[in-house]
Amino acid sequence: MNGRARQAAGILLDRHREIAEPATFRLLGLEWDLLPGVYAPHLTQSAALYAEWLPYPVHGSFCEVGSGCGYLAVTAALRGCAHVTALDVSAAAARNTRMNAVRHGVADRVRVGHGDMFAPLGGDDRFDLIFWNSNFVEAPATERVDGDLDRAFFDPGYGAHEAYLRDAARHLQPGGRLLLGFTDLGSEDRLSELAARHGWSAGTLRAARCGTAEGHIEYRLVEFRRAGR
Ligand SMILES: C[S@@+](CC[C@H](N)C(=O)[O-])C[C@H]1O[C@@H](n2cnc3c(N)ncnc32)[C@H](O)[C@@H]1O
Repeated sequence: MNGRARQAAGILLDRHREIAEPATFRLLGLEWDLLPGVYAPHLTQSAALYAEWLPYPVHGSFCEVGSGCGYLAVTAALRGCAHVTALDVSAAAARNTRMNAVRHGVADRVRVGHGDMFAPLGGDDRFDLIFWNSNFVEAPATERVDGDLDRAFFDPGYGAHEAYLRDAARHLQPGGRLLLGFTDLGSEDRLSELAARHGWSAGTLRAARCGTAEGHIEYRLVEFRRAGR
């Protein structure tokens, strides 16, 4: 793991640990519920960027892996996606996503699953767009990452990233798109290597460099396309 990534993640983790009670925050002009232990999107600038950048499949189906508090899954439903599926390995995040779907009146269009990567899905589940704002800080493969908050930031050996790239294709509609929210604190070479291993090539669709308390971070919306196409 690079030192800059560990330092930035450490600062942001400390700010998350201060949230010990259920809270609310404002983002995208709306009020959202936040449970302790769940990634807090209002603490970084990436949330507004991804909400603006995502090519929502209006009238189509959207799957968000790692939905956290659910602001993006709910936003997708509010912006016209007919079927939204939100998945998270954290039980608190899955509960938080349901809370925000109810708060914003879209619980009938936002299905929430709790489990590792695509495990909560059925074999027939296919989407027009799959997105994950990932835990992009690569920890050593041997490092134990315990706790929901740590898992929102650190991915030992990029095992979760590999699962995403290995298994997403079987849940895409023909012509469906696979996107990832990533930053320059992530391990780009490793991501490209994993993409190539599973038949994808990675390209940056959108990027913005932002000044933050953790230093300058470039947020990127990455698209994976089938290699050779
Ligand atoms: C950077 S946070 C993003 C949360 C939310 N999408 C947002 O932008 O506010 C990464 C999320 O991915 C989830 N996550 C990490 N590993 C996962 C896995 N193997 N399967 C599903 N979700 C995972 C974490 O629990 C966390 O909610």
